[in-house]
Amino acid sequence: MNDFVYNVPVKVYFGKDQLGNLGPELKKYGKRVLMTYGGGSIKKIGLYDRIVAEIAKAGLELFELSGIEPNPRVTSVNEGARICKDKKIDVLLAVGGGSTIDATKFIGAGACYDGDAWDFFSGKGQITDSLPIVTVLTLAATGSEMDAGGVISNMDTREKYAAGHPSLLPRVSFLDPTVTYSVSAYQTACGAADIISHILEVYFNMDPDLYMLDCVMEGLLKTVVKYAPVALREPDNYEARANLMWASSWAINGFIDGGKASQAWSCHPIEHELSAFYDMTHGLGLAILTPRWMEYTLDELTAPRFRQFACNVFGVDQNMEPMAAAKKGIETLAEFFFGALGLKRSLTEAGVDDTHFSLMAKKACGGGVLAGFKPLRQEDIEKIFRMCL
Ligand code: NZQ
Ligand code: ZN
Repeated sequence: MNDFVYNVPVKVYFGKDQLGNLGPELKKYGKRVLMTYGGGSIKKIGLYDRIVAEIAKAGLELFELSGIEPNPRVTSVNEGARICKDKKIDVLLAVGGGSTIDATKFIGAGACYDGDAWDFFSGKGQITDSLPIVTVLTLAATGSEMDAGGVISNMDTREKYAAGHPSLLPRVSFLDPTVTYSVSAYQTACGAADIISHILEVYFNMDPDLYMLDCVMEGLLKTVVKYAPVALREPDNYEARANLMWASSWAINGFIDGGKASQAWSCHPIEHELSAFYDMTHGLGLAILTPRWMEYTLDELTAPRFRQFACNVFGVDQNMEPMAAAKKGIETLAEFFFGALGLKRSLTEAGVDDTHFSLMAKKACGGGVLAGFKPLRQEDIEKIFRMCL
């Protein structure tokens, strides 16, 4: 294994009785708070009122930006940055899922930048700093509550790109599993697929592994496989929601990457094209793509790793031939996504045809090679899209 640095200083308040700490935490960063949220789910579950009360109790001044879209748009980011500058905001409070938290990160960066926030994604500008960010997570999926990156869409150019900077790491995140009781079955399933994908993007890697981290990754995967179906059956099962929530954070907070020289991901850049062209829910795109990507990349070289996944996560018979065991693991994962989680099986079912496959494939690999478990060129990615039809 290689040397590495692990430095993720996010203070996490986990559990159902933690919001009392919100006011004092925000107060450390100033008096003027911009609260950001999405389409209103936080009002339906009473979370908005609880947060407003905590902010009032702490004597802070509250400003708001609502309506942040799933697959958040750069227009919302620019709007938020403008409010920060106009109102001299001291600290940002994101209340929602990955979309709200991601948008808020770039609002924070945009507030410290003179220009359009799309510059961060087009390469025209650099993130140098951000306003401090505090989050209240409402959906277990992206891990944005504990990482320093985010993904923003530009509907004018049909592009969805990721960016990151250490200053975007939330200072404090509140993780209360009970606020996820109201997450729909569909979003719960998509969130589970996203968590699984974050782990698999790291797990399927040719670098030598640290045994301890393999065990952690397999444990996280087993946790999602065990508890996502429980959360679907019993949306207010605390144990299930708590396990999914903490697994979502640890899947992508950098811990499991330790020591791997190559961190290139495969399914995420391919999926971002589905979101960019069709506004597809991120987790659904990943669920449809991942088993096909596994099938496409399965060969003599990759089979042992796929076999390890099959045996250690899904209990496939250790005595099976590596290739047969690998195939069984891929089938079992597909059945988990499409059977147990009830997600759509194909791009066709999701309303996508092959019209843009060529361009989407080209963009996914930046016109070159998508490095990863197995390097993929435009023609490979196009074939994977076709396998998903
Ligand atoms: O907008 P509201 O009304 O809040 O409704 C949301 C939205 O419609 C709803 N929801 C959230 N919490 C809820 C709830 N409904 C009921 N009860 C609750 N407690 O769920 C819908 C989806 O929300 P969204 O935030 O879009 O979902 P998610 O957390 O999956 O975020 C997806 C975004 O994050 C990006 C994705 O690409 C996508 O844009 N990602 C961010 C990453 C990161 N920062 O590291 C990594 C990921 O790979 C991912 O790319
Ligand atoms: Zn993801």
